[in-house]
Amino acid sequence: MTGHYIAFEGIEGTGKSTIAARLATHLEQRGIDVLRVREPGGTATGERIRHVLLDPGGSVAPWSEALLFAAARAQLAHELVGPALRRGRWVVSDRSVYSSLAYQGGGRGLGMAEVKSVNAPGLREVWPEMVILLRLDAATGLARQEDPDRIGIEGVEFQTKVGQAFDELADQDPARFVVVDAAGDLESVWKSVVAHVEGRWPVSSTT
Ligand code: TYD
Repeated sequence: MTGHYIAFEGIEGTGKSTIAARLATHLEQRGIDVLRVREPGGTATGERIRHVLLDPGGSVAPWSEALLFAAARAQLAHELVGPALRRGRWVVSDRSVYSSLAYQGGGRGLGMAEVKSVNAPGLREVWPEMVILLRLDAATGLARQEDPDRIGIEGVEFQTKVGQAFDELADQDPARFVVVDAAGDLESVWKSVVAHVEGRWPVSSTT
């Protein structure tokens, strides 16, 4: 593996999609070949699974939910992320396996170790190298949310559990996690993100 796999994580409303897109563009402007993906989804199969998972009218049992997220992710790793990394591309992802550990493991109470064990076989070495956790309190995140999906409509108690699980994951793995306060304006979040990424992997400007 020669590329780098960077994943953005956090509860709802942290601005991670905007920041992930901006990072991908920033890297591309510096001559880096970037694959940008989002989870769940990113492949034809994954987008179909996404629909099942997020349709606000749907009914999905907790373990069914965890396994469907794992299935969509295994497809993405097989079709896109694994091949990209092997070719030396950088991958910038909106969410990753750590969302499953936090939402299904922590939020739904399935257990982080249990959820990790059903994801790992489909991913093997295709695992985020840097996880940028955009940290925000649950009430602020929910207030910022625009169009909640089946999981986003869960209340503040669920989001708080998810946030706590993310904090625990970051504490356990400080070499992989970068924690950025997302309560401030987007510009200061961006500055912090880019400083962390370029601090780890210096990139030179081609513009
Ligand atoms: P996303 O498309 O990132 O939506 P948002 O931008 O609103 O955060 O994620 C969709 C939802 O799926 C979101 O509520 C988080 C949830 N999710 C999980 O519960 N587990 C997972 O493994 C993933 C990837 C997402």
